[in-house]
Amino acid sequence: MTFRPQDAYNISDLRDRARRVLPRGLFEFVDRGTEDEACIDRNATAFKRIGLRPRVLVDVSERSLTTDFFGQASAMPLAVAPTGAAGLLWLDGEIAIARAAAESGIPFTLSTASIISMEKVASEAGGRLWFQLYMWPDRSMSYQLVDRAKRAGYEALVVTVDTAVTPNREYNRRNGFSLPMRITRRNIVDVAQHPGWFFSVFAKYILRSGIPMLENYPDQLRHKLTAKPGRQIGLPKNDSLQWSDLRELRKRWDGPLMIKGVLHPEDAKLALDCGVDGVIVSNHGGRNLDSAIAPIEALPQIADCVGHKIDVLLDSGVRRGSDIFKAVALGAKGVFVGRAPLWGVSAAGEAGALCALELLREEIDRVMGFTGCRSIDEISHELLWLEAGFGRSHPIDKPGTYPSPSKAPLFHGPVPEESRSEPRPLPDAPPSPIPSIGSL
Ligand SMILES: Cc1cc2nc3c(=O)[nH]c(=O)nc-3n(C[C@H](O)[C@H](O)[C@H](O)COP(=O)(O)O)c2cc1C
Repeated sequence: MTFRPQDAYNISDLRDRARRVLPRGLFEFVDRGTEDEACIDRNATAFKRIGLRPRVLVDVSERSLTTDFFGQASAMPLAVAPTGAAGLLWLDGEIAIARAAAESGIPFTLSTASIISMEKVASEAGGRLWFQLYMWPDRSMSYQLVDRAKRAGYEALVVTVDTAVTPNREYNRRNGFSLPMRITRRNIVDVAQHPGWFFSVFAKYILRSGIPMLENYPDQLRHKLTAKPGRQIGLPKNDSLQWSDLRELRKRWDGPLMIKGVLHPEDAKLALDCGVDGVIVSNHGGRNLDSAIAPIEALPQIADCVGHKIDVLLDSGVRRGSDIFKAVALGAKGVFVGRAPLWGVSAAGEAGALCALELLREEIDRVMGFTGCRSIDEISHELLWLEAGFGRSHPIDKPGTYPSPSKAPLFHGPVPEESRSEPRPLPDAPPSPIPSIGSL
């Protein structure tokens, strides 16, 4: 049966559709995490642990989700995360998602590991484009990419730093889905059971230009995805990257520079010292270190340390508009979504990716209506209900090491009567500035 994006009522419906149309190996490559997938659960649970305290009798008849990233307007506090090999889910999948992002008025980030080249995405997608960089041990190869991104007109550079070593994604190896891909009996059967995907995506690439490659890779490393074993196709070896490399990138890139994959406040401070414009608090969607904390838990301390100077963004586990609201309330300028648009594009191409982004827009808007927020600036941590200890790493951290002193109490359930926060001012009074989040 043909899938119509309007039949999806939430991101989970798009995921269900993706599960049906994609070969299992490909679906799992997108969907799953690493090892025991504790990190995926933690990302979801951490959002659920935060409650919201609605406000009533506020005139919310006019609501605006507009914000800005690096001085340029964005239609909502959302951007598309870089995801390698998105082009395998749909023909020219990266272009489809980038167009959906442009239509939604938000930035799209192209991965180093995309199937479509950065030049082609720039010429065919339009909208606001950011480029994500993985560094090679031979730094000159990475600098070539930086120069290419500059020439192609990418506005911002996102340097991913959370993949020093190869993540242990056992399912990919079992499915023959590590790079180079292995053609096994198991994945031949898998693909044969999904002829729709084979004929509308893979066969079309083959007829057009042969087996797909990671088109942004430097010439000497660009091989077919099914190249002979031993060829370096997967992520570049990344274990020698240091803060001095980030400083060097800062010298070479004069647009906005973000570092992606920070979970420790000390690292956020070091990044700030290197001159970045933004920090993306992320555990790679639970795909790298299975015992990593959830970014939403790490966010309050990081926002307290560096949020007054640079933009703090967050990703990993965002599935609902309320997740985005919670991240903004805890100090994020906005969030990235990775899998949501990937499931959307798998379900229905550009229309499916757009559906994912628009569902999230409707959901943020609805939560704003329930909580009395007419603009993104009015989203504050006073609307949250946080369990005692949320986002704290004490007693391991020396008390007072990271956060600035907070005036407002942070934990709510249950809280002694005398320490409850003051109610927000009446809605027709001018909104108060968002207070510091303090020692979470
Ligand atoms: C299939 C897939 C491929 C990814 N590839 C990259 C990549 O090439 N570079 C990168 O920095 N992050 C990559 N990520 C991580 C995302 O940028 C992002 O951190 C993560 O997906 C956010 O979590 P979410 O999927 O729960 O929204 C990838 C994620 C997925 C699901």
